[in-house]
Amino acid sequence: MKIFSRMPKWRPKNPTESYLSTTIRLKMPHPGQLQILNNPARFKVLTCGRRWGKSELGIIDILIAAHLEHKYCWWIAPSYQMAEDIWSDLVNAVKDLKDVVISQSKRRINLPKGGVIAVRSAHNPDKLRGAGLDFAVLDEASRMPARIWHDVIRPMLATTRGLARFLSTPNGRNWFWERHRDGLDPLKEEWAAFQFHTGQSSHVEAAELQSLRDSTPEHVWECEYEAKFTDDHGQVFRRISAAAAPAPYHQPQPGHAYVAGVDWGRSKDYTAIAVLDASNGKMVALERFNQVGWELQRDRLSQIVKKWRPQVVWAEANSIGEPNIDALVRQGLPVRRFYTNAKSKAPLIESLALAIERNDITLLDDPVLLGELADYRFDRLSNGSYRYGAPPGSHDDTVIAAALAWYGSKFIGSALSFA
Ligand SMILES: Nc1ncnc2c1ncn2[C@@H]1O[C@H](COP(=O)(O)OP(=O)(O)OP(=O)(O)O)[C@@H](O)[C@H]1O
Ligand SMILES: [Mg+2]
Repeated sequence: MKIFSRMPKWRPKNPTESYLSTTIRLKMPHPGQLQILNNPARFKVLTCGRRWGKSELGIIDILIAAHLEHKYCWWIAPSYQMAEDIWSDLVNAVKDLKDVVISQSKRRINLPKGGVIAVRSAHNPDKLRGAGLDFAVLDEASRMPARIWHDVIRPMLATTRGLARFLSTPNGRNWFWERHRDGLDPLKEEWAAFQFHTGQSSHVEAAELQSLRDSTPEHVWECEYEAKFTDDHGQVFRRISAAAAPAPYHQPQPGHAYVAGVDWGRSKDYTAIAVLDASNGKMVALERFNQVGWELQRDRLSQIVKKWRPQVVWAEANSIGEPNIDALVRQGLPVRRFYTNAKSKAPLIESLALAIERNDITLLDDPVLLGELADYRFDRLSNGSYRYGAPPGSHDDTVIAAALAWYGSKFIGSALSFA
């Protein structure tokens, strides 16, 4: 193992325990981590799935640099909270070391032979200035603005010919993707890139991985667990045509329970209502209409509800929804409110995406619905979460109606409600 040539006098006695010294407590690197540690590149880009062990590897690497090579090191995290988490891990690793000085207020560790580790957040890049730096770890680099690297860290490494590590899941084709491509370019000799999916870590059990796979829609899985660089404006719903079929019947069936979802049309949109047979996940009706006035729209809705007698109608409650819902409730319709916001929309959409991929839902082969589903897109936000919506100029009324019907069908008969 080449890594140990950096620490010639020491070999691990027990591979499950600390290997760096008897006083610094570190995990034994797994094979993928070891491969990266042994690579001699100056700049290493690690594109790896969630829980693969990126941060743990960064901790091993920075402690080698600071403790054994006496370097001046920075750990940069995208947020204060992530910086705090790593800070405690680093403190835990060095706390038993003789003559170590730990400054909580400066988030700085001075190691006995002159090495330093400072933990910083990229939250406020203007505060991230400093003199020469020997070693930088950018954890979850893809969530940081590009200027952290270009304007702050890279210049600080210039006079020292310092090293950098970029650890991250992908986040679209942003500046981190460009660094990954630097690492793949054979002409850029200072750079190396590595890509591992979560299943390639020996610390994630196969059963746990399968359970994650079963509960994660493909567009999230590809990025977060397979560590693939996908489009910034990627398609949310996959395998749509395989999940589409003609209406199974045109009248309600005895003994079947129905749920409806409603999305209200605003000025240029349509009001859409989707009815789902909750007994078997088949969509049985989908109607959309606009420009007929709210009263007429509510009447059409009441007709559909009278026909299918859904146990519950989940309706979007934002803005124009509220007065319409109030009017429908006064008429005695079983309408419940769904408040769409960034927090509630992601699970609503992801749940429908997963149901379509797994064939848990059968969609009506309605061209408008199938088209809106195919157009629907996600963006990744800098904090790692997803934002969903129709691209400019497209509609998403039938998508939201279908998603509300599906989500509602999972709670049918339960006391659970939406936020
Ligand atoms: N070599 C190792 N030996 C033992 N445990 C490890 C090792 N590498 C990682 N782990 C453990 O696996 C878990 C995930 O590791 P880590 O947090 O480093 O992964 P990550 O890729 O940074 O995950 P995330 O994407 O959530 O940030 C942690 O509990 C960590 O302690
Ligand atoms: Mg991590």
